[in-house]
Amino acid sequence: MKVISVVNQKGGCGKTITAVNLSAGLAKKGNKVLLIDLDPQAHASFSLRNTLGSTSEEKNNFTITDLLEKSCQDQKLPEGTICTPVSDNFYLIPSAIGLTSIEHKLAQREDKLQVLSSLLKKLHLDFDYCILDCPPNLGIITLNALWASKYSLIPLNTCDFSLKGVEMLKNILVMLKEFKTDVPTPFYLLSQVDKRSKFVKDFTERVKNQLGTLLLDITIRTNIHLKEAAGGGKDIFEYKSDSRGAQDFTALADKIQKLTTQNLWAPLFLKGKDLSEVYVAGNFNNWQKEERYKLRKMGEIWSINLSLEKGKYCYKFLTGDTWLTDPHNKLAENDSFGGKNSLLLVD
Ligand SMILES: Nc1ncnc2c1ncn2[C@@H]1O[C@H](COP(=O)(O)OP(=O)(O)OP(=O)(O)O)[C@@H](O)[C@H]1O
Ligand SMILES: [Mg+2]
Repeated sequence: MKVISVVNQKGGCGKTITAVNLSAGLAKKGNKVLLIDLDPQAHASFSLRNTLGSTSEEKNNFTITDLLEKSCQDQKLPEGTICTPVSDNFYLIPSAIGLTSIEHKLAQREDKLQVLSSLLKKLHLDFDYCILDCPPNLGIITLNALWASKYSLIPLNTCDFSLKGVEMLKNILVMLKEFKTDVPTPFYLLSQVDKRSKFVKDFTERVKNQLGTLLLDITIRTNIHLKEAAGGGKDIFEYKSDSRGAQDFTALADKIQKLTTQNLWAPLFLKGKDLSEVYVAGNFNNWQKEERYKLRKMGEIWSINLSLEKGKYCYKFLTGDTWLTDPHNKLAENDSFGGKNSLLLVD
C-alpha cells in the first residue's frame, strides 16, 4: 500500500480538495483507495458526506480518533470492514472532533511519531493507495502522517505564505531524517491557479526555479465546481465529471500513479544557506558533476529527488571543490581516500 500524505502547514492552500479528488481520481483508474481524514476540522469527511455509504457495502462509524485511541491504549482493534465506502474502490476513515485530544495523548508517548504507522500495519489494510489529509499545522498528527508515508504531496496556492509552509516542511523532513532513513519523497503541486494573472505567471516561474523537477507539471486550476462539489458533499467526478476540475484531477491521478509505480525515489536534502551551488554525485553517475543532479534551493534547504533503480548506492554532495558526506544520513561506509561515502538503499 502506497501511503501519500497531503500536507502544508499553510491553511486553505488546497490540501483537502486535493486529498479528496486525488483519491477519487485514483479510484476511477481502478485503484483501491483509502482516504484518512487526519484533520479535526473534518473537512474531507464533510465534503464526501453525500456519497458515504452509497454503495451496497455497509456503512460503519469508525473514525480515525477511535482507532488511534484504541491503538494508544493497546486495545483490540475492530475486525472486518472498518472503512466507510464512498464509491467504487474508494473508502474513507473519517475524522471526529476528539482528534485534538489525541494529540496530547500521543505527545506523552515514547513512540509518539510512530502511532499512526503502527496502526496502519496492525489493520492489515488491503489498498493500493492510502491518502492522508493533514491538518494545517506541523504538529504531532502531521508528523505521524509524515512518518507513515512514502510520498508527500504538498499543494501550494499562489501566495508567498504557501512557500513559507514549504520551507518549514523541508526543515521538518531534514529533522525526521535524523530518526528515520526513509523520509517521504516530496512532490509539490500548484493549486487554485488562475493562468490569466501576471502575478500567477511570475509566481509559477519563481517556484519552478526553487523546486525544479520536484514541482509537478500538472496544476490544479481555480474551478468553482470544485468548491461546489465540496459544499455539496461529493467528489468532483460524482458532482460534475465534465468540469475543468475533473480534468485536472484526472491528470493528477495519472501523474501520481506514474510517479509511484514507474520510479523509485530517494529524496536528499542539505541544509546550508551560504552555499552557492550543490550537486550530488555517486556511483549511480560515475561521480560526475551533472546538471540533472543539481540540488535546488528554497530557504536554507537544498533538495533533490533522485530517481534510481532498486539497489545500494554511495554518494557525496559537491559544493565548489568540496566533497561532503551527507550530514543528514547516518548510513555511510569508508571511501578509498580515508573519508566516508554516504549510503542509499533504494527499494
Ligand atoms: N482549485 C480550486 N478551485 C476553486 N476553489 C478551490 C480550489 N481549491 C480549493 N478551493 C477552495 O478553497 C478553500 C480551501 O481549500 P481546502 O479546504 O482544500 O484547503 P486546505 O489546505 O485543506 O485548508 P485547511 O488548511 O483549512 O485544511 C475551500 O473553500 C475550497 O473549496
Ligand atoms: Mg483541509
